[in-house]
Amino acid sequence: LPIDVVSCEGNIRVYVRVRPPLPTEVATDIPTAAITFPDKRDHREIVLTSTTATATGTERTDTALFSFDRVFEPRASQSEVFEDVGQLVQSVTDGYNCTIFSYGQTGSGKTWTMEGGKTLETTGMIPRAVKQVFDTAESAKAQGWDYTMKGQFLEIVGSSLPPFLRLVDYCRGGGSTMKRSTIYSGRANWTNASTRLNTIRVDGPLSQT
Ligand SMILES: Nc1ncnc2c1ncn2[C@@H]1O[C@H](COP(=O)(O)OP(=O)(O)O)[C@@H](O)[C@H]1O
Ligand SMILES: [Mg+2]
Repeated sequence: LPIDVVSCEGNIRVYVRVRPPLPTEVATDIPTAAITFPDKRDHREIVLTSTTATATGTERTDTALFSFDRVFEPRASQSEVFEDVGQLVQSVTDGYNCTIFSYGQTGSGKTWTMEGGKTLETTGMIPRAVKQVFDTAESAKAQGWDYTMKGQFLEIVGSSLPPFLRLVDYCRGGGSTMKRSTIYSGRANWTNASTRLNTIRVDGPLSQT
């Protein structure tokens, strides 16, 4: 992150994105979570409400408020989410290390957010990030900067874990030198480790539709 941003806000950001109910969820009687977004100004808070019947037959309503660096409501588009994520990506071409990872239960929208759909509008964070890095490198050429991009490829496979996203799937380059390293989990806990990651040169983003 840009150093002035880090000094006033710290260098870890936690965002939450709430996806809209799916058509299948709307079609069933299963109630959806009661989530409200009271913080219209800064978009930093969500409130969960649950109503339970007590033993005496009355209803009790519990609310819980959670704060994050940024909350994205169900209507937030991929490009709105990337307005924030893009600032983190900016720090990479500024020379800092940066990790973006998405966490959540199955079906919560991780893959949608990170990979997205096939149209320009629905493109997710990874292809947008890759494109931004290469765009920045390209425009910095005019000031005499020369960037060499390298990518690594790590996949975690396990029946209880979703496959990890593969950065180089979003890049051109590498050719025959590309070798996938795989960690198999679920067999021997987390003691399996791969230390032989191949690094490949990448030349640009995969073209988007
Ligand atoms: N913001 C969103 N808008 C519309 N549909 C979404 C959104 N987030 C997720 N979905 C849909 O919800 C379903 C589950 O999302 P997915 O990304 O596959 O979850 P996960 O990777 O966390 O298991 C998919 O059908 C996906 O298209
Ligand atoms: Mg997924």
